[in-house]
Amino acid sequence: MKQILEQLEKKRSAARMGGGQKRIDAQHAKGRLTARERIEVLFDPGSFEEWDMFVEHRCTDFGMADNHIPGDGVVTGYGTINGRLVFVFSQDFTVFGGALSEAFAEKICKIMDKAMQVGAPVIGLNDSGGARIQEGVASLAGYAEVFQRNVMASGVIPQISMIMGPCAGGAVYSPAMTDFIFMVKDSSYMFVTGPEVVKTVTHESVTAQELGGAITHTTKSGVADLAFENDVEALLMLRRLFNYIPASNREKAPYRPTLDPVERADMSLNTLVPANPNLPYDMKELIIKTVDDAEFFELQPDYAGNIVIGFARMDGHVVGIVANQPLVLAGCLDIKSAIKAGRFVRFCDAFNIPVITFVDVPGFMPGTAQEYGGIIKHGAKLLYAYAECTVPKITVITRKAYGGAYDVMSSKHLRGDVNFAWPNAEIAVMGAKGAVEIIFRQDKDDPEKLAQREAEYKARFANPFVAGARGFIDDVIKPHETRLRICRSLAMLKDKKLENPWRKHGNIPL
Ligand code: HXC
Repeated sequence: MKQILEQLEKKRSAARMGGGQKRIDAQHAKGRLTARERIEVLFDPGSFEEWDMFVEHRCTDFGMADNHIPGDGVVTGYGTINGRLVFVFSQDFTVFGGALSEAFAEKICKIMDKAMQVGAPVIGLNDSGGARIQEGVASLAGYAEVFQRNVMASGVIPQISMIMGPCAGGAVYSPAMTDFIFMVKDSSYMFVTGPEVVKTVTHESVTAQELGGAITHTTKSGVADLAFENDVEALLMLRRLFNYIPASNREKAPYRPTLDPVERADMSLNTLVPANPNLPYDMKELIIKTVDDAEFFELQPDYAGNIVIGFARMDGHVVGIVANQPLVLAGCLDIKSAIKAGRFVRFCDAFNIPVITFVDVPGFMPGTAQEYGGIIKHGAKLLYAYAECTVPKITVITRKAYGGAYDVMSSKHLRGDVNFAWPNAEIAVMGAKGAVEIIFRQDKDDPEKLAQREAEYKARFANPFVAGARGFIDDVIKPHETRLRICRSLAMLKDKKLENPWRKHGNIPL
């Protein structure tokens, strides 16, 4: 037996060496960790259970018959993050450039299937040269098997992708279908076609980083949620994100008791909104001052800054926050912000996370760029997301809620459970100036009369009480008591039950 155990240990040691010391050194020289080192940083110490360490590819073409490396380029298994179960696959660039073979794909599918059965998230650490070229269509088939599982798992278990090296061609579509994408700056990139093909086809000269690096995808395309300096920072932040998400759609996100009192009043909120309605203020200040312990895990902070999204806790319970940001484009809704927030609301709804919406929105962004870009369909995504959402929804209008954007931003009419407004809120079809210019066009050459009409309109509509009189606003609250009122509402809504009618699936305007 002793001999057998020694043989086993020898086999394991060989598998742990992946593509060998030289390639491990090359990986380190690029400032990257190996597949196994990444798992060590991500998981609780000693919690990782590896599967399929001895799997090998079955390819015999192009000299592959004599070229076997145990594990075949991907490390798979499960473990815990802060004591909570999670499955992982970690692509090993030191083995055939992390390229995906049929056997490699089978290993990923095996853990995805098990994660679905037991109800636990899957984290993918991506670092791969794409389809294993020697395997041809068997590799493409392997990708499609993974894609199919990504789709089946969507809304059932959370899926998170970390891009830590190359991710190109069709390979990008597995991360694209996961819930969150993190990237490592400088060492990772994602694109459908690389710089050489781009040069040939469109004659554009662009580097891999410019085309698909972490900065590009967190500022320009919105494909990725967050960018980090290095592997370790990215993995540690992934552990933090994990604390906000539930294991599956059958569970609630983890509760964490807080010493931050529910009734904590923040008097500075009473002066957050400037007296002049045209002046901006930072909506993140309201978020930070309202949530537990001032902890806000913001997603996509550098993309579509006119809307803010992220996770926080209220009295220990995880909430998703969506907020217009008056500091950027006056908080207007546009194509990018509607898509950004719409997808986030759908994640929260799929995974039992209540949505808190802070509203200060002057309307949809006008212009040909928006109309030609399809703001009608894209704006409808956010409307659709809020309207189908059945988790508790609490809305606080801090200032403007104009026009269609008022309806969209979790209004009472879209089944908002509790809708509050601050006393200075203006809930109307549009701002007073625009309104009188249209309905009193005949007075356009009489500035005095126009000013008087504007004052009348303001007095009549630029307040929350017209909406309050109809019950569209449940209460007008003092800004400093926002935290207390939200926490109480969440407690009241704890066991909320609301179901949409049966259907195969809706047809969200894609
Ligand atoms: C097999 C591959 C490979 C691949 C890399 N390798 N990509 N082996 N299939 N796709 C191997 C290399 O031969 C090399 O082996 C080792 O991995 C490391 O690669 P290097 O080129 O030395 O590394 P580096 O210089 O860092 O460049 C990384 C790279 C480059 C940019 C990823 O390797 C590359 O361009 N690879 C090809 C990418 C590609 O065209 N893939 C197919 C895309 S199509 P040795 O033994 O020398 O260490 C696709 C479709 C997916 O993926 C479709 C899904 C539907």
